[in-house]
Amino acid sequence: MIIAVDGPAASGKGTIARALAHHYGLPHLDTGLLYRAVAATVRNMHLDPTREADAVAACSFDDSLLADPALRDDETGKLASVVSAHPLVRSALLQRQKRFAQQPGGAILDGRDIGTVIAPDADAKLFVKASPQVRARRRHNELAANGSTATFEQVLADIRARDERDSGRTTAPLTQAADAAALDTSSLTIDAAVARAIQFVDAQVAAK
Ligand code: DC
Repeated sequence: MIIAVDGPAASGKGTIARALAHHYGLPHLDTGLLYRAVAATVRNMHLDPTREADAVAACSFDDSLLADPALRDDETGKLASVVSAHPLVRSALLQRQKRFAQQPGGAILDGRDIGTVIAPDADAKLFVKASPQVRARRRHNELAANGSTATFEQVLADIRARDERDSGRTTAPLTQAADAAALDTSSLTIDAAVARAIQFVDAQVAAK
């Protein structure tokens, strides 16, 4: 069984994908981490993230980097959004993601283009969303708990800028696949969102 989970930044897709992986006993790939690793490598090598050739050079990052908690910070996420807009960066990471999706026991992947590009034939597809305000509120709380002084307005502006970049690029933009079930987590607790996600997946798999 292949499950595709897509959605914008801070929508809850990562949390939902991890919970689904646990529920169905499937291996999980957070594909955003791959783009974050490219971004961190661009930064470490003092390359220019807006130059496609520079960003492509950073795609041969060392896999040990994927375990680095620093990849998960907001600056790296922003930079990941920039490098991920280059078509050659996306194609450099494509096979790795497709291989993960096609492994014999099944898999769950989360990202922006899983249901549309990486695994268009997935058995179940979810598009997880929430209003920009709700996502900014979540992200702001998380940042504040970690000692950041960023204001809610700054976080909201960042979320909007990231949405625009991820949805506006020409190659594999963030978009809901025609056959994906939309799950709006704006007014749901994590437990309720996960329960709804399981219902959606079970229903899609049963309808196959
Ligand atoms: O999901 P995330 O916040 O870790 O992703 C970071 C950035 O990586 C995101 O803003 C756009 C890019 N990305 C992508 O283009 N395609 C994916 N499948 C996953 C992430």
